[in-house]
Amino acid sequence: MDKYTQKTKEWLDKRFAEGVREGDYLAHQPIYGYKRGRTEGRDLIRYLRNLSILTKLSHLKFDSFMDIGGAEGYMPNLVKSAFKVDSYTCDLSFEANLRAREIFNLDSVSIDISNLPFKDGAFDVVLCSEVLEHVANPVQAISELKRITKKALIITTEAVCYDSLERKLRMMLVDLSEDHCDRNWFIAEDFIFMLGEGIDYESTIYDPGVADKSASFDEAKTILSGYEDRGILTRDGVGITVLLPKTPKDERPEGNIPNLVDIILNTIANIDYKKNNDSDLRPISTMLVELLRCPTCQNIVKLDKNMLICSSCGNQYAVKDNVPIMYTHDKDDDFLSKKWDTRFRGEFGHNYKHFLKLKKVFEHTTIKPSFLVRFITCRALKIQKFIRNSINVMRQKSLLASIAYFLCALKKKILREIYRVINRVRKPALSDFKIGDTVEFAKDYQALDNQKVFVRQGTFGKIVAISDDKITIRVEGVECPVDLWANTKRDYRPTLIYIKQVKIS
Ligand SMILES: C[S@@+](CC[C@H](N)C(=O)[O-])C[C@H]1O[C@@H](n2cnc3c(N)ncnc32)[C@H](O)[C@@H]1O
Ligand SMILES: [Zn+2]
Repeated sequence: MDKYTQKTKEWLDKRFAEGVREGDYLAHQPIYGYKRGRTEGRDLIRYLRNLSILTKLSHLKFDSFMDIGGAEGYMPNLVKSAFKVDSYTCDLSFEANLRAREIFNLDSVSIDISNLPFKDGAFDVVLCSEVLEHVANPVQAISELKRITKKALIITTEAVCYDSLERKLRMMLVDLSEDHCDRNWFIAEDFIFMLGEGIDYESTIYDPGVADKSASFDEAKTILSGYEDRGILTRDGVGITVLLPKTPKDERPEGNIPNLVDIILNTIANIDYKKNNDSDLRPISTMLVELLRCPTCQNIVKLDKNMLICSSCGNQYAVKDNVPIMYTHDKDDDFLSKKWDTRFRGEFGHNYKHFLKLKKVFEHTTIKPSFLVRFITCRALKIQKFIRNSINVMRQKSLLASIAYFLCALKKKILREIYRVINRVRKPALSDFKIGDTVEFAKDYQALDNQKVFVRQGTFGKIVAISDDKITIRVEGVECPVDLWANTKRDYRPTLIYIKQVKIS
């Protein structure tokens, strides 16, 4: 495993072992309920993405499913409930895999996506959702995903750009010193090149206004019920979903499609999971063991007590708490190690030059962009988006409409800049808030004096007290004091950036 992945794994393990109030684990997906502060934020966007993936799956006939980078196994659990198939998960984080067993009773494997320990065509359907943007070798990873898929591969990522200029700019902004950052940005052509012309791709979510909305549970239900597939990649959509069908149409019979919205919403409503230290005694399924291969040399592995041993190279892989730990023993940090070079020459043949170009796109020469690069690149991105939108309006509507759009957008931009400057000069003040205001946490919050108080971004609370230098916000009965000034990770900024005022109708 390369150094970057090793460091990411350490961070992920801490993250997936993290607890919140009342002894729950902090979940990646909304498994404890909607907007409860015990899950990471942006619940609605996650529901919408889950629904879009399940909708794709509902048209396919398949018997086995594997989620690569599946975190606590939320998605494989939904797939199991909806389609009654063998469903597995695997993740770089061993802790995430333990949670998948404990919370959803799923079989899981510890892996690195760049060297997957599964046989060719091991699973009918393979999903890799919101993972590729984080990994050290995305090209290698995509090739591995394709290899282990039998019938259909689904990839989603929010890190999508609409042209290579935008991608260049976004890649320049990548800050590798941030843990588990979005280090890779994709364009649709990458997937066509890696997976072939036969892929379908579309925006994962079509309406960013809806996706980023603060919705109540009932509103969320209504939004989900109105979801529909449109089958196109729109410039103002959120993310990309790619489907590679490997076998010619193998469709699920009509009338056999479950109510996916109900399945998503019921699954979260019924979970009441507490942290516990008892290890799960159920052994790993023999069916999954049969699909395992040595991640270093791809040969058969045999289970011997708590050890999987490669029949060819002799490498040994421990099985801890019934989770096989199958990271490659290959310590080669170089993306184009001999093994991969040979494989890619075979896979891409005469297009090898293009492949080398693609590989170069994801290489980083700096760890952290300088302030100047950040400043210029951010503005360049905004200008690019502005020009693109104007051209779009011109194409679709009349010249008059595009002039009107241009003027409105310009006015909005000028007003926003003025507002930003005023805010910077004025700085946020306590007087901006009053007792009884409902506020939303704009960032994760942890009380400095009480490790148990941890509130996720996106959680709502009410202001219950305001003193000279503090605001106290009540969240689910717990009072969270927010200092006006504090040292945050990046620089010295007021902690008021932790909260934003929201209008409650
Ligand atoms: C943003 S989360 C997405 C989780 C889940 N697939 C979803 O859509 O909600 C990224 C996941 O990828 C996993 N991950 C990161 N790097 C990985 C790697 N090199 N190999 C496998 N999994 C990785 C993380 O542990 C994490 O669970
Ligand atoms: Zn081996």
